Amino acid sequence: MASSSCCLVALFFAIATVAAHGQSPQAGFISIDCGNSKSDYVDHSTNLAYVADDRFIDVGSDFYIQSNYINSSVPTLQLNLRSFPDGLRNCYTLQPVPQNSTYLVRATFMYGNYDGKNSQIQFDLHIGVNHWKTMTISDPSAIYTAEALSLATANSTSVCLVNTGGGTPFISSLELRPFENGDYGEYVNASQSVVLVTRRNFGASDSVRFPDDPYDRVWSPYMDPSWSTLSSTLEVNNSGNMFEPPSAVMQSAVTPASGSQLAFSWDSVSPDDELYAVLHFAELQKLTGNSTRVFDITWNGDPWFQWYTPPYLSA
Ligand SMILES: *[C@@H]1O[C@H](CO)[C@@H](O)[C@H](O)[C@H]1NC(C)=O
Ligand SMILES: *[C@@H]1O[C@H](CO)[C@@H](O)[C@H](O)[C@H]1NC(C)=O
Ligand SMILES: *[C@@H]1O[C@H](CO)[C@@H](O)[C@H](O)[C@H]1NC(C)=O
Ligand SMILES: *[C@@H]1O[C@H](CO)[C@@H](O)[C@H](O)[C@H]1NC(C)=O
Ligand SMILES: *[C@@H]1O[C@H](CO)[C@@H](O)[C@H](O)[C@H]1NC(C)=O
Ligand SMILES: *[C@@H]1O[C@H](CO)[C@@H](O)[C@H](O)[C@H]1NC(C)=O
Repeated sequence: MASSSCCLVALFFAIATVAAHGQSPQAGFISIDCGNSKSDYVDHSTNLAYVADDRFIDVGSDFYIQSNYINSSVPTLQLNLRSFPDGLRNCYTLQPVPQNSTYLVRATFMYGNYDGKNSQIQFDLHIGVNHWKTMTISDPSAIYTAEALSLATANSTSVCLVNTGGGTPFISSLELRPFENGDYGEYVNASQSVVLVTRRNFGASDSVRFPDDPYDRVWSPYMDPSWSTLSSTLEVNNSGNMFEPPSAVMQSAVTPASGSQLAFSWDSVSPDDELYAVLHFAELQKLTGNSTRVFDITWNGDPWFQWYTPPYLSA
């Protein structure tokens, strides 16, 4: 019997942009709580140590978000920020970064009406001299994220906030996570970086990040009412997968609740961008007898993979 249900586990989309001006020597996470003038602290959910930002930048001003935007679900990291009323371009210098390795860089932004102006703000982010992303901050209670993968061509890298006339740039957190090996090497080189569109953990109920993901990628829960979940308590072997999707991510999956198709989409970014989609699969059910799970994958209606069967407990 052939089952036509599929078992999609996690999905990573990235668009290519130009950007590459990293620098890097030695491995190690850099975790910065921007605008934090207090002491360094350990984040209790990840056990990662966050440091104040004054050793990475010496311009800008520290602010707290307004208290009416604060409750127990707002992460400590978002409670304060650094803003840059002066200068067109203000940069954090991150070092050390491991030279010739790929690193992930992630910035978050929560406005929380810190300046009492209730404004919408737009500014650009650069990695070195290359445009990374245009941030449009319209919801004061939302946490906005920018994430990129880039190759470090030297032992430090700079992340810059560029005032484009859309209000005062600010930043809440900045994180750098080196990748030891050639992960993402197909997508990232000295002349090309990738920017994250979304990273989805199908069928999950909670976000997965460090320590389940040793690179501290954040895999966000994603579910649709027309899907049902599959899960396994058994470890999923990811050693054959260059992206090393964490077992904790692979142990949940979705399958159609009715019908035979899973469909999902994302907002397009820019028609000029090159878009990559990376899908990870693992069979979570021990199929017996004659049953097999086999399905096709299409991209905008065009065949992509046919007669695909996910390997049992292997990513
Ligand atoms: C907590 O605060 C955030 C940010 O201001 C807001 O989006 C969220 O709705 C609040 N949650 C509750 C339960 O009030
Ligand atoms: C980085 O790569 C360049 C070019 O391949 C090489 O010349 C340089 O020695 C490498 N640096 C390190 C620290 O590996
Ligand atoms: C980084 O590179 C600079 C210039 O190449 C060098 O002077 C410095 O010692 C390096 N720092 C580390 C930590 O490797
Ligand atoms: C980087 O990768 C892109 C896309 O694969 C390729 O077109 C380009 O030639 C590569 N550049 C280098 C310096 O390897
Ligand atoms: C995981 O998969 C690799 C091949 O992809 C295999 O060599 C290894 O033995 C597997 N590990 C376990 C624990 O099954
Ligand atoms: C597998 O399918 C064949 C042909 O349909 C059937 O004869 C056989 O009994 C099936 N075996 C099992 C274990 O279901």
